[in-house]
Amino acid sequence: MSSQERQQKFVVITGANGGIGEALCETFAAKGYNVIATDIQDAAKSGLQHRHYVSIDLNRFVADEGYGNNKTAEILTLVGESKLHCLINNAAVQILGGVDSLSRSEWQTTLNVNLQAPFFLAQAFTNKLEAAKGSVVNISSIHAKLTKKNFVAYATSKAALSGMTRAMAVDLGPRIRVNAIEPAAIKTAMLIDGFKDKPEKLEVLESFHPVEQLGKPAEVAQLAHLLAESSMRFMSGEVLSITGGIRNVLHDPA
Ligand SMILES: NC(=O)c1ccc[n+]([C@@H]2O[C@H](COP(=O)([O-])OP(=O)(O)OC[C@H]3O[C@@H](n4cnc5c(N)ncnc54)[C@H](O)[C@@H]3O)[C@@H](O)[C@H]2O)c1
Repeated sequence: MSSQERQQKFVVITGANGGIGEALCETFAAKGYNVIATDIQDAAKSGLQHRHYVSIDLNRFVADEGYGNNKTAEILTLVGESKLHCLINNAAVQILGGVDSLSRSEWQTTLNVNLQAPFFLAQAFTNKLEAAKGSVVNISSIHAKLTKKNFVAYATSKAALSGMTRAMAVDLGPRIRVNAIEPAAIKTAMLIDGFKDKPEKLEVLESFHPVEQLGKPAEVAQLAHLLAESSMRFMSGEVLSITGGIRNVLHDPA
């Protein structure tokens, strides 16, 4: 590792191969962070500018302690003597299904990836984050507060992630700041997949937003970068919305 690299701040980003993950990697790299990108695939998405990639299945990270410890050690080896300034828990699964149909395995996978992995990753990096006066940023969702049919597993996991953010900020204060972002519709594969049977509704969704457009992954990434800034010491346990105004729209039949 070069002396320049040693001085750099590190950030660990999960779900790096996804739409928002890619924007997070690009934004943090552009701001001078040394990015450790992780995702379930064997390799990083081509074209990403980050230098380090660790393949992690977060479902297994939760269920298999030995695997989890090995993956933690792999990341800590990459950080070495440098500072780990931020952990961004961005990976998630969105398994659709109602109370009547969700299998145990779908329910468990959702909670493992979206809720339990963020907790165990934060726990694994506590010492390193504290030494850097660093922070955790959890990417939650508007579904933490408002949801719709067939999103019961996802919405439950995100409500718990936002709640966990507040509880962890209290528990870890003043050692590590913990914040979350609750985006509404951001134009990524996850969102478009949800509309694959009704693509015409995507345009309608756009027009529902007071700003008349969907969010961009880069907007979430910029907010995450702001939360990660060391100068934002007074920002802890906060759950910020980024919704194009849709969270203030009253849906009544009139
Ligand atoms: N796109 C939206 O409209 C939207 C809105 C609100 C919140 N979010 C949240 O933003 C975050 C990123 O979403 P996105 O839209 O970029 O989705 P995406 O599907 O493009 O990315 C999610 C990433 O998580 C990874 N992942 C899934 N299961 C995994 C596992 N077991 N182990 C490791 N990685 C795994 C996927 O491989 C993928 O790269 C998620 O937390 C999502 O809930 C997205």
